[in-house]
Amino acid sequence: MTEQVLVAIDKGVQILTLNRPDKKNALNAEMYQALAAGLDRAERDSAIRVTLITGTGGAFTSGSDVSIFAAANATPVDSAEPGNPFIPRLLATEKPVVAAVNGTAVGIGVTMLLHCDLVYAAQSATFQVPFVRLGLVPELGSSLLLPRLIGSQKAAELFLMAKKIDAEQAEALGLVAEVFEDDALTSQALARAQALAAMPPTAVRATRKLMKGPDGPLVAAQIEAEDSHFFSQMRSAEAKEAFTAFFEKRPADFSKLS
Ligand code: COA
Repeated sequence: MTEQVLVAIDKGVQILTLNRPDKKNALNAEMYQALAAGLDRAERDSAIRVTLITGTGGAFTSGSDVSIFAAANATPVDSAEPGNPFIPRLLATEKPVVAAVNGTAVGIGVTMLLHCDLVYAAQSATFQVPFVRLGLVPELGSSLLLPRLIGSQKAAELFLMAKKIDAEQAEALGLVAEVFEDDALTSQALARAQALAAMPPTAVRATRKLMKGPDGPLVAAQIEAEDSHFFSQMRSAEAKEAFTAFFEKRPADFSKLS
């Protein structure tokens, strides 16, 4: 078990804490595996009613580790894609998932929230989906779910312009249920997750299914469409320049690319 995802169980709530603070909790393969294992554990263990995801340090997560993308950029097109085990588990999980966004949320750190049942945020949290700036496209069905949730204009600012928003804006847009003072977030989110864990479990599961059911096939089809663009863009010259610029700590220059 990796120390990069801490696991605790408290009164029916499994707490998964992303713990790679030196990299702003960027998600690597081991962390995705640990998150998937956490959701599997919740399905198997009747003592777990709810999973709460949060982060250590000042970050929720800075998204996928850009070095995973950079490695894929250098890999031939016909090699097998590295499957992300967390995504299918998150989509299929029958028990509620609550997010406590304690700081920076980037990329999948935001798109995963669209699949969480409840999202709470610290006042200092920020939200950004800079896929396009990285030469990529949105994932996890977010190109369908985000415009639908916040409207196409606001979604275009977030996706096309990589606009960063704060917790108050995220709450106003409906991405977040409630915002708390930074030092109150953990206890408030846990209290709400525990209150949910105390609800009748079959009614909770059935209600989630009813709420998510109609979108299921649409989201699956959108993810398939996103994946085909995502994986071709991941090997593009645009993405190569973006990944290189990130690690060289300089602005990317797309001016010579058509
Ligand atoms: N993948 C790999 N490394 C990452 C990372 C990521 N997603 N996010 C941050 N890091 C690393 C940085 O390279 C840096 O490493 P170093 O100390 O070895 O130089 C360290 O984490 C700290 O990040 P830093 O950029 O110095 O912190 P910051 O507070 O100034 O900025 C972020 C934080 C999250 C805004 C910024 O790091 C960022 O934009 N990261 C990339 C996010 C991203 O594009 N994710 C993919 C989304 S699709």
